[in-house]
Amino acid sequence: MDSKCINGNSLCTGVGIIDGQHHNLFKLLKKVRAHATLLDTDEIDTIIDELFLYSLYHFETEENLLKKYNLDSFPKHLDQHREFTEKIEQFKIDYMLQKTELSNEIIDFLEQWIINHIEKTDLADFKSAKKIDADKL
Ligand SMILES: [Fe+2]
Ligand SMILES: [Fe+2]
Repeated sequence: MDSKCINGNSLCTGVGIIDGQHHNLFKLLKKVRAHATLLDTDEIDTIIDELFLYSLYHFETEENLLKKYNLDSFPKHLDQHREFTEKIEQFKIDYMLQKTELSNEIIDFLEQWIINHIEKTDLADFKSAKKIDADKL
């Protein structure tokens, strides 16, 4: 069992680099939550940026690994990645303009979004990709 898998094995793609990055995303969300509790506003800006940049990096890694398989589901997968980064961007802007606070609801939303995305989209697409590889053998 890969120790980097989130929630034991239930959110495990079996692709080491991806599972490791998911693990890091959850670590970053924990960090966001810890600083939100402390109301550490300067730090929160930096951590939100870190989460935003890491999401971009992670999505790019996934997209580079998956694009060669031409899966029917791939365009939808890309849309979901864009949707998430746009949500964080919008949140950053609202936060900077003091239109919103970093609440537990927002962090819960981000965390739940990532869990749903891994569960329903990442797992399915990496499973299809592995099947294509296996069928070639
Ligand atoms: Fe992912
Ligand atoms: Fe994804």
